[in-house]
Amino acid sequence: MDKTTTLLFTHLFFFTLLLTTSLSKDLCNKDDKITLLKIKKSLNNPYHLASWDPQTDCCSWYCLECGDATVNHHVTSLTIFSGQISGQIPTEVGDLAYLQTLIFRKLSNLTGQIPPTIAKLKNLRFLWLSWTNLTGPVPEFLSQLMELDYLNLSFNDLSGSIPNSLSLLPKLEYIDLSRNKLTGPIPESFGSFKGKVPDLFLSHNQLSGLIPKSLGNLDFNRLDFSRNKLNGDASLLFGANKTTFSIDLSRNMFQFDLTEVKIPKTLGNVDLNHNGITGNIPVQWTEVPLQGFNVSYNKLCGNIPNGGSLQKFDSYSYFHNKCLCGAPLDSCK
Ligand SMILES: *[C@@H]1O[C@H](CO)[C@@H](O)[C@H](O)[C@H]1NC(C)=O
Ligand SMILES: *[C@@H]1O[C@H](CO)[C@@H](O)[C@H](O)[C@H]1NC(C)=O
Ligand SMILES: *[C@@H]1O[C@H](CO)[C@@H](O)[C@H](O)[C@H]1NC(C)=O
Ligand SMILES: *[C@@H]1O[C@H](CO)[C@@H](O)[C@H](O)[C@H]1NC(C)=O
Ligand SMILES: *[C@@H]1O[C@H](CO)[C@@H](O)[C@H](O)[C@H]1NC(C)=O
Repeated sequence: MDKTTTLLFTHLFFFTLLLTTSLSKDLCNKDDKITLLKIKKSLNNPYHLASWDPQTDCCSWYCLECGDATVNHHVTSLTIFSGQISGQIPTEVGDLAYLQTLIFRKLSNLTGQIPPTIAKLKNLRFLWLSWTNLTGPVPEFLSQLMELDYLNLSFNDLSGSIPNSLSLLPKLEYIDLSRNKLTGPIPESFGSFKGKVPDLFLSHNQLSGLIPKSLGNLDFNRLDFSRNKLNGDASLLFGANKTTFSIDLSRNMFQFDLTEVKIPKTLGNVDLNHNGITGNIPVQWTEVPLQGFNVSYNKLCGNIPNGGSLQKFDSYSYFHNKCLCGAPLDSCK
């Protein structure tokens, strides 16, 4: 063979090698593939997972994502959203050790408890189990997920109390446990989160008792404690030096005097409707950039200060108080 032919054959050889390896290459991690097929079986082989065909590369399957070569193409994200799925969260999800995102959402026939094997997911950042029919507690073992940044267990049938240990998670930025059947108090430990202060959504539960004093030291950005059975003084959540944007305390049994409350200059949304709040609305409230405001169904009295955003809201934001008056309500006598 002359030089050119040799070169041609060498090229051809490497090209063929490249082609065959790339074609036959299953990027998917073999252990993950076995686990995923167990998950599919445990969910009774739903149509939703029809693309999970053992003959194909699992990184091409729907409802999941694989990481890159640095994590050997392990599965990093699993999202089961709005399908005809019945049964429980498969315990095998705990074997997908590289998962960073786990979502089960809008699955009304998903029942049972949050499986303890989830505690094995040491890389998990994003856990969203919502609009399902999950029961049992908000598990204590979630506090072992040191990378967790986003926890959303809203719209389920979870019961029992909120575990103190959630405050130990150093990276948590969002806690949403709203629309469950949670009872007991807001944990005292929520006054000292190990990391930054998370947005906290606990509405539509049956939480009771006082807001722990320790929460007064924190500068929350967004808080929603609405529609619970909380009582006592909630004024500690406000404070002149804070940077809070929204506070919803509506439909509880809070009792405090609004007259003395100093508010953050950053307040955008405040809903205090249906409580037992007394006193009057201080002039200070005309100085904050309110987009939403509702103090109806309380025991407030006196003149609604004129100015700022306060007259942007209609009478329904102010009605059913003891003796509030002035625009948008009737003028004071
Ligand atoms: C839930 O289960 C019921 C009863 O088996 C069935 O009729 C319904 O279609 C299922 N819904 C979904 C979204 O899977
Ligand atoms: C949970 O199941 C009940 C019936 O058992 C059903 O009425 C309800 O809609 C389900 N919840 C959700 C969020 O789908
Ligand atoms: C949690 O999930 C619900 C519904 O799935 C959603 O409406 C809500 O905005 C989520 N909460 C956060 C903090 O993202
Ligand atoms: C708020 O900040 C001012 C000025 O930085 C300081 O003098 C005051 O003590 C602070 N008030 C509270 C309640 O921390
Ligand atoms: C304020 O709350 C009351 C009571 O829930 C409600 O009727 C009213 O529509 C609310 N106002 C606004 C502006 O949302």
